[in-house]
This record gives sequence, structure tokens and C-alpha cells, in this order.
Amino acid sequence: MTQTDSNFLLDVQGVSKRFSGLQALNNVTLQIPEGSVHAIIGPNGAGKSTLLNVLIGLIEADEGTVRFDGRELRGMKPHDIIQRGIARVFQTPQIFPALSLLENVAIARLAKRDGKFAIKCVENLGPGNEVSDEAAEILTEVGLGDHVYESAQNLARGDKRRLELAVCLAAHPKLLLLDEPTAGMSRHDTNRTVELLQRISERGMTKIVIEHDMHVVFSLAEQMTVLAQGQVIASGAPADVKGDPKVIEAYLGGGPKE
Ligand SMILES: Nc1ncnc2c1ncn2[C@@H]1O[C@H](COP(=O)(O)OP(=O)(O)O)[C@@H](O)[C@H]1O
Ligand SMILES: [Mg+2]
Repeated sequence: MTQTDSNFLLDVQGVSKRFSGLQALNNVTLQIPEGSVHAIIGPNGAGKSTLLNVLIGLIEADEGTVRFDGRELRGMKPHDIIQRGIARVFQTPQIFPALSLLENVAIARLAKRDGKFAIKCVENLGPGNEVSDEAAEILTEVGLGDHVYESAQNLARGDKRRLELAVCLAAHPKLLLLDEPTAGMSRHDTNRTVELLQRISERGMTKIVIEHDMHVVFSLAEQMTVLAQGQVIASGAPADVKGDPKVIEAYLGGGPKE
């Protein structure tokens, strides 16, 4: 880490965000050591996606600080934050549908490396090209190695999410943000996604994953934070937090989805 007095890769202190009448985030604090996997859970509307939007610079917090890798991120634009090493997988896949899988991943690699000239550089892609080869390798890693030349728009929904993960990995992030990576997936696809995320964890990439499915949380995360109505109501190891009465109450007595 560079120029930091904190041992955390990400150090969020007292972040608040108001949307007209609604306090979406209220004094949120979150500290994440390098190499760890941290889950964020909470009922719909708790502020989970808003928090990720603040981290990636799509939304500016009203109050608080966000230090990443020793630098303050507040006020930075999303493309500067991506360059500093945060990537985000959205709740709905964000890909170029008319381009091939290989082109989608190669653009992400070039965008990180060369900035805004990525689209021009794609014209030079081909077998044996270093960026193409790396893109093909990443696609193989996420289980899409047999489809590299296919158009992204023809992929099934689960595969689109895998492609978006490949696009994020191509940016070589230090911190990967995943917003409900298994939402809408069958149990089979959920298990495949968990295995894939575990493989990425073995590489030591720090991750924040928003997730409703407690099987997924327990399989992936060492620590978790529970948000409700914009506030952190509990945090700690998943096994300790799950039975916390405040957490159970926030889920209307039902507890998080098993
Ligand atoms: N850009 C926005 N403008 C106004 N309200 C928003 C905006 N984004 C989110 N909200 C509101 O903020 C609250 C938290 O939303 P969100 O962060 O998406 O929750 P979660 O991801 O936990 O379901 C919700 O009530 C939502 O309607
Ligand atoms: Mg959300």
C-alpha cells in the first residue's frame, strides 16, 4: 500500500448520502483488509447499491471519507477510481452486446492500460496479440473459453454475468465489487458462481459482495456488514452476525434468506 496510515485497503468512515427526503446512507463505516472477502447484506432499499455507487464514484457522498489504497477517493471521477484499482460488477450486466466476448474483455484490458483510446486499439486485435491472448485466458477462467468469438448478445443470462466478471478481471482490480452476483440464478448456476469467486479469492483479490443468499455469504466471506435503512446495524464474522437479534428484526423476523 502507498502513503497510508491505515492497514486497510479500503477505509470508509462516516459516509452519509441523502436523496431529497430519503437518508439512503447514514454514517456508514466499513474497513476492509487487503486480500479479504467482505459481504454486505440487508433488506431491499437498505442502501447497499448506493454504498457501492459511492465507492466507484457514481454518487458523491454528502459526508464522510473513503480511503482506498492510502488515498482519498471522494471527488474523484469513476474512470480515475477504476484506474486506481476498483472494479464493479453491476446488478444487471453492463457489456457491449454487438461485440464478441473477446472484444468486450479486450476493451476492458485496453481501457485500463491505455485509457480512452481502447476502441481504436480493438481494430488491431487478433490471434497472437498479447491483449487478445490475455482476454481469451480470462474468458477461459470464467468458463466461457468455448465462446470467445460469439456475439455477447447471444449469451444466456448467467453467461452474461460471467462475461461481465471477465470484463472486471481484465482491469486487474485490487478491489472487486460484486452487486448480487447470484441474483436470479438457479442453485446450479449459483454454485458455479461461488466456485468461480472462490477461485478468484485464491489469487488474493479483495472483494466486497452484496448478497442475499446466506449459503453464498458463508461460502465466500470472512466478515460481513448488515445495513438497514442506510445504517450499519451489525458487523463481524457471518456465523456471529447471522443470529444477532437486530439483524433478524431487520428482516421482519424471518432472518436472512437461507
Ligand atoms: N439515484 C437515486 N435517487 C433517488 N433515490 C435513490 C437513488 N438511488 C437509490 N435511491 C433510494 O435509496 C434507497 C437505497 O437504495 P439502494 O442503495 O439501491 O438499496 P439496496 O441496494 O440496499 O436495495 C432506496 O430507497 C432507493 O429508492
Ligand atoms: Mg441493490
